[in-house]
Amino acid sequence: MTINRKSGHLFIENKSAIEVAKEFGTPCYVYSKRSIETNFNRFKDAFDQREHLICYAVKANSNIAIINILSRLGSGFDIVSGGELTRVLAAGGDPSKVVFSGVGKTQEEIRYALKQKIKCFNIESESELYRIAAVAQELNQDANISFRVNPDVDAKTHPYISTGLKENKFGVEVNDAPRLYKIANELPHISPTGIDCHIGSQLTDIAPMRDAALKMVELVDALENESILIKHIDFGGGLGIQYENETPIDQEKFVSMLLEVMNGRKQEIIVEPGRSIVGNSGVLLTTIEYLKHGSNKNFIVVDAAMNDLARPSLYGAYHQIDNITHKNSDPAKLYDIVGPICETGDFLGKDRNLSANEGDVLAIHSVGAYGMTMSSNYNSRPRAPEILISNERTYVIRERETIEDLFSKEQTAPDAH
Ligand code: LLP
Repeated sequence: MTINRKSGHLFIENKSAIEVAKEFGTPCYVYSKRSIETNFNRFKDAFDQREHLICYAVKANSNIAIINILSRLGSGFDIVSGGELTRVLAAGGDPSKVVFSGVGKTQEEIRYALKQKIKCFNIESESELYRIAAVAQELNQDANISFRVNPDVDAKTHPYISTGLKENKFGVEVNDAPRLYKIANELPHISPTGIDCHIGSQLTDIAPMRDAALKMVELVDALENESILIKHIDFGGGLGIQYENETPIDQEKFVSMLLEVMNGRKQEIIVEPGRSIVGNSGVLLTTIEYLKHGSNKNFIVVDAAMNDLARPSLYGAYHQIDNITHKNSDPAKLYDIVGPICETGDFLGKDRNLSANEGDVLAIHSVGAYGMTMSSNYNSRPRAPEILISNERTYVIRERETIEDLFSKEQTAPDAH
């Protein structure tokens, strides 16, 4: 465990969280380097000598220090925008290990990715195929492509993060895939080298992942009969982590399921994990500004808000919250933990049993994935800093924003005429 309690105090590796809060102020994201490395290496070790590529899903946490840590371990990257590609390059990532997902790639993004010679475009529609073919023609370059197949399986996760059903906007229908591969195979400058899928995020049941994987290999066999030879199969990401009482799918269990489904087939395996690498590697530290006791409800008003961590408001997501200041021995009460933003939806936790005093620091757990990347400046709130811990050393990997940063691209209105 790299984020744990030692004699009642929260430690991130060998650094006390309360010390970090004192040094850098709150709200503040704090990550454990070792935790990120361990989670990545569990995937890597599970594949053993088998040909594979782990493409970390950059959207989960796109800080360039984190991309850099993973890149040094040999990671590839799953990106969904030109912006994420620029981050990968800035962090020293290898473009030949990048796969580009997403339903709305612009011409500009496709041109940029082609020039950088990425590994593959994960195509999500027939129109996108033609667009990529046109840009490849213009640059006189070849594009490796994969179709993101929508296997129509129910991932049984939150509807907002479920992507593998026919009614979702993602991918092409599994029954239509052979026709599309035939078209792609005939197009100049297009090489259909892969196939991919991703059925959803925060999955805790491996059965739908297995169903999707089986549909993929069946399709690969069918394509092979049509002389379309697929070189890599990308099974996506989606492994759930423990936020509350969930039983996560281990990296080892996931990889052994894939190897079993591959059943000796030789294609390179790609996976695109995000949350399972960084999710439990980060905490958000926040200070209690006010306690508010009402006749129906008690509130803890903290200095973090939905702009810092959107998941509770957006998905009703649960994040464990602890008081990490130990000066008080007050009896615990039931509280809602809320931020200063003018929205009823601005909460970080509901009905939590906590003992609390104004000025205490709370730790909000499991925020390494989709925490900072989904943050905003709503209510003119500067984004929190990000601190990386390695052993007992601290590194500021993103400084706290200033208010001036927030309006630096704005101008006052021109004089009225
Ligand atoms: N590959 C593709 C094509 C994806 O769309 C995603 C996530 C991943 C990989 C990585 O999935 P992971 O291993 O992290 O589950 N904001 C939501 C999660 C949205 C996930 C979107 N796609 C949340 O906070 O729960």
